[in-house]
Amino acid sequence: MTQELTPKPPRHIAIIMDGNGRWAQQRGLPRVAGHRAGAEAVRRTVDACIKSGVEVITLYAFSSENWSRPESEVKALMQLLDRFLKEKTKEMMQQNVKLQAIGRLDKLPEKTRKRLEDAIQTTANNTALTVNLALSYSGRDELTDATKAIAQQVAAGELEVDAIDADTITSNLYTHGLPDPELLIRTSGEFRLSNFLLWQLSYTEIIIFNKFWPDFDESDVLHAIEQFHSRDRRFGTI
Ligand code: IPE
Ligand code: IPE
Ligand code: MG
Repeated sequence: MTQELTPKPPRHIAIIMDGNGRWAQQRGLPRVAGHRAGAEAVRRTVDACIKSGVEVITLYAFSSENWSRPESEVKALMQLLDRFLKEKTKEMMQQNVKLQAIGRLDKLPEKTRKRLEDAIQTTANNTALTVNLALSYSGRDELTDATKAIAQQVAAGELEVDAIDADTITSNLYTHGLPDPELLIRTSGEFRLSNFLLWQLSYTEIIIFNKFWPDFDESDVLHAIEQFHSRDRRFGTI
């Protein structure tokens, strides 16, 4: 195939990285071993997305609801995130990867939030791939925060109620500035959104993988992109 005939990859892929706990349970391991293996799958996915020319991936790493898990699991997840940021910043610089994050980041432990901010700042000018981590994230929280921000602009006389449109909402979301995901991947065979990117996924193509997240690899990314190209996206028209 010549270069011109190769279809463009999706600009933005969103991923619900699900099934770490079940992956570990199947092997008689503690759930945290699944989360550790899941971090390796993130590395493989980032590599594959860079190679494929994807611009942005948004990874659902920790939901607002996940705070309700047992304290020991939450603590282990925060420690893993902390170590991931500590170890990967150098690699992200080498790979020209830019890190971003969405969610109620103020809820993260102080040390982890600082590390996250440092990594975001260090990688801010990188241009190969944007890795957007959804942390302490909830789609309903995001829409609630956007609604509050818009109401404040109206109250301050900066915005007319009649001027509010879909773009007003889009530009007040945590994801402002990013294109909507064209492709959503969820692993572990569950058919639900679990409060992820409720506004942004309106016309996104969805691909569910039956495997658990720690088993996800580069060939799955390529398979998902291929599937995406075979979809007939109509956006409500005929
Ligand atoms: C996804 O795996 C990672 C997080 C939600 C943090 P899970 O921890 O949800 O694993 P399962 O779905 O219980 O197997
Ligand atoms: C969604 O997975 C959140 C993340 C992958 C971070 P969950 O395991 O928390 O969602 P449910 O409980 O299956 O809906
Ligand atoms: Mg799960």
